[in-house]
Amino acid sequence: MNRQWWQGKVGYQIYPKSYMDTTGNGIGDIRGIINRLDYLERLGVDIIWISPCYVSPLADQGYDIADYYKIDPRFGTNEDLYELIDKAKARNMYIVLDLVVNHCSDEHEWFQRALAYLQHPAEHPEWERYANYFYIEDAVEGREPNNWRSYFGGSVWEEIPGTNKYYLHLFHKKQPDLNWENPALREEIYDMINWWLDKGVAGFRIDAIMNIQKCDLRKNFEADRADGMAACTNMIYEADGIVAKLQGMRDHCFKPHKAFTVGEVFNVTDAQLRDIVGLEDGCFSTMFDFRAVEATGSEKGWYDVRPISMDLYKQCVYETQSKMAEIGFVSTIIENHDEPRGVSRYIPAADLSDTSKKCLATLQFMQRGLPFIYQGQEIGMENKSVTSIDEVDDISARDEYKVALAAGCTEAEALEAINNYSRDNARSPMQWDDSENAGFTTGIPWLSVNPNYTRINAAAQENDPDSVLNYYRQLTALRKNPAYSDTVVFGTFEPYLPDEENLMAFYRRGEGQTLLVLANTCKEPQTVNLPQEATAGIRNILLNNLSDLAVSGNRIMLAGYQAIVLAI
Ligand code: GLC
Repeated sequence: MNRQWWQGKVGYQIYPKSYMDTTGNGIGDIRGIINRLDYLERLGVDIIWISPCYVSPLADQGYDIADYYKIDPRFGTNEDLYELIDKAKARNMYIVLDLVVNHCSDEHEWFQRALAYLQHPAEHPEWERYANYFYIEDAVEGREPNNWRSYFGGSVWEEIPGTNKYYLHLFHKKQPDLNWENPALREEIYDMINWWLDKGVAGFRIDAIMNIQKCDLRKNFEADRADGMAACTNMIYEADGIVAKLQGMRDHCFKPHKAFTVGEVFNVTDAQLRDIVGLEDGCFSTMFDFRAVEATGSEKGWYDVRPISMDLYKQCVYETQSKMAEIGFVSTIIENHDEPRGVSRYIPAADLSDTSKKCLATLQFMQRGLPFIYQGQEIGMENKSVTSIDEVDDISARDEYKVALAAGCTEAEALEAINNYSRDNARSPMQWDDSENAGFTTGIPWLSVNPNYTRINAAAQENDPDSVLNYYRQLTALRKNPAYSDTVVFGTFEPYLPDEENLMAFYRRGEGQTLLVLANTCKEPQTVNLPQEATAGIRNILLNNLSDLAVSGNRIMLAGYQAIVLAI
């Protein structure tokens, strides 16, 4: 496979609202990111993906865009962003923006004009153009055109007052879906993408993209909950034509600019993988590996999600690795702004420690793929629980709370589901130091800080050689160490003792070099026999999340959550 410039890099996701506030308005801003470039460089980050910071009513925290060309004043100015792009470039770092084009905000001029036209067609007949940017359907027998349930609850249809029409929104009603069947809309989007690429952004993380291809909007699916509706994801499997649309974007925008793209690709079939993320001729450079999220999801709602074990996590990783080996290069994550903190999700609460956090980090970083760190992951930030639903901002969590109650959960059970899976878990402000509000803001933070910031913060870990932060620095350094990077980045992935419980072990094989990763994924110690080929000796211990390693002959005694990387 052709090697690409981005494969050996380290990605980092910034959720700007919660990263660093320099104005005291309680909301993070672009200048805050500029001020932290030193920190990011020391961590070994190259590619910085910034969640949306365009003009937005923030109904879905920026994933509802009202002006694609303008930075929201709460986050700064376009000039701030250009400065960030330049300053990043000077350090060989790349800025990647979030491309949210399945939908825009209902406050976008396009939608406002579409509504005005639909409600008073005679006043601005020329605005019919904008009505065609969206999916507008007549009522069917006085009600919604189909029975699809939106991602954030309720019908995907919202009635347009004064008409007998509805508009489609797969997400929140303030996020009307854009009509990708309309060539004029596609041109608008291509122009916008190219405009940003011309400004010097290196590429995009591409939001919710599998949703842009719709199936027949009159099709009903079998109801899957007592509300009589069916998950709108049914539509994705039914729809035909997504690849051609993604290829259009690739050919008009990404390819001519040699842009880096990482897709938020859910609900993809194996047959589509090569077309979408094939390294040779796919539509995107890479996509996030959500296998572990998908494996435990439940159609019923968060209250029904079963906790994931490390053994199941292992299976998920192995599945993805084997599937992608001949096709392309995934982007690995343990968390993002839509998921709970990885350490809280994958490690039982009683076992949370710096050691277990480093163990999980090792497993993520040593896979074949492009690792993305989500802000705060590098210092081991944990979930932040609430004691009442009133403390929750996330629209998705608020809906899931209602879903849980409607399904018969007690308030305590519903709240437990929210505490486990709320998107606020990862959105609480970045914990910079132990001063008030964790050094995130001098004002009132838009979402409260996790009270554990006095213990878990970047400043406390900066100079502690054993900190989680410094362990992440070791991981990024190993990835870039010329003696090993070829194997770490491009080496094949081969499970070792895959059926052993509580052990996640694998080889990375490069040209003339083999690395072995051994991780004890439980708190009890365990002994692992080294493979035959290693009995000649361990050449080098490249990483160890503890200070000791007990070896006797060809047996290694791993302490609880001990993880090591060996050159054999
Ligand atoms: C993606 C984003 C999520 C957002 C949704 C709608 O899944 O990651 O935060 O709510 O798309 O844009």
